[in-house]
Amino acid sequence: MTRVFSGVKPTGHLTLGNYLGAMRQWAEEDQHRSDALFCVVDLHALTVDHDPARVRRLSRQAATLLLASGLDPERCTVFVQSHVDEHARLSYLLECVATDGEMRRMIQYKEKSVRERERGGSVRLSLLTYPALMAADILAYGTDEVPVGEDQTQHVELARDLAVRFNHRYGHTFTVPRATRPKVAARVMNLQDPASKMGKSDDTGPGIVYLLDEPDTVRRKVMRAVTDGGRGVVYDRAERPGVANLLEILAACAGGDPEALAGGYDSYGALKKDTAEAVIEALRPVRERHQALCADPAYVDGVLRTGAERARGMARPWVDAAYRAIGLLPA
Ligand code: TYM
Repeated sequence: MTRVFSGVKPTGHLTLGNYLGAMRQWAEEDQHRSDALFCVVDLHALTVDHDPARVRRLSRQAATLLLASGLDPERCTVFVQSHVDEHARLSYLLECVATDGEMRRMIQYKEKSVRERERGGSVRLSLLTYPALMAADILAYGTDEVPVGEDQTQHVELARDLAVRFNHRYGHTFTVPRATRPKVAARVMNLQDPASKMGKSDDTGPGIVYLLDEPDTVRRKVMRAVTDGGRGVVYDRAERPGVANLLEILAACAGGDPEALAGGYDSYGALKKDTAEAVIEALRPVRERHQALCADPAYVDGVLRTGAERARGMARPWVDAAYRAIGLLPA
């Protein structure tokens, strides 16, 4: 059976981008057709300046939202990264296979390190080695497929490269994974700045739809979305990114194809109105389930405990095999 692994980082409240680009596929498709693991990657949240209490709170919220988005712990494994030591154990071995040059070439490292320096801060070493830990997340489970949004493609490519290099140097050990992404909305853009990704760690609130936003808030944010100067509703990502973004969000939430949907509108107002309502409907069940799950914290704890145990059992043989292959003396 195909093994699927993916994760979400608790560095902010989860957004419509996380949902349409990744989580929805996990719930609607991946958990039904594969042996899948979904992880709150809390160790990754420590790579930038952070408040410990906030990371803890956001980790719990992310786990609850994974379940609220429709992941069924009877069908897949839901857990928290730091509960399974194998991730950190394998990450070190992959740092011994990766080069600093390939880490420095990662777009997210370049962007985030510039941002940290602009804020007057220093760049944590773990921000540079982030992709080795992410590769460890993936390779520790013999993963075949990694369903992610477009922004993670380069990291998954690096995980592939490291798997191939490790296998070549030390004998066949790892499965070589590949990224998969949704047909539409693989890169949801910020509603106020359609040149940038809708990212949970950004602070531009009005351009970001959060999964737990009230319907009125969603409506207001979508109605105020920046559109483009051109006339008419056309789907053109390069020239009309604001309108293209709305059409993609509408297509992802209500079904259909962005280009075909464009033909049905002659004003931005009508497009925004339909998009807002489609988003509200798409998020309604998630918000409702989230509320119910918050009333039952013991259930969420139990899911995470069982998930971590299961994940540990799955990861250990892969990581032990890598320790042997690379030349470490068995304990
Ligand atoms: P993270 O937490 O930034 O995002 C979680 C998932 O949501 C997708 N995503 C988006 N998709 C479309 N449009 C957007 N605006 C948007 N914003 C986020 C991301 O592509 C991702 O699939 N490094 C990863 C977490 C990670 C991981 C892993 C993923 C750590 N280890 C192993 C897969 C496998 C990250 O920061 O995702």
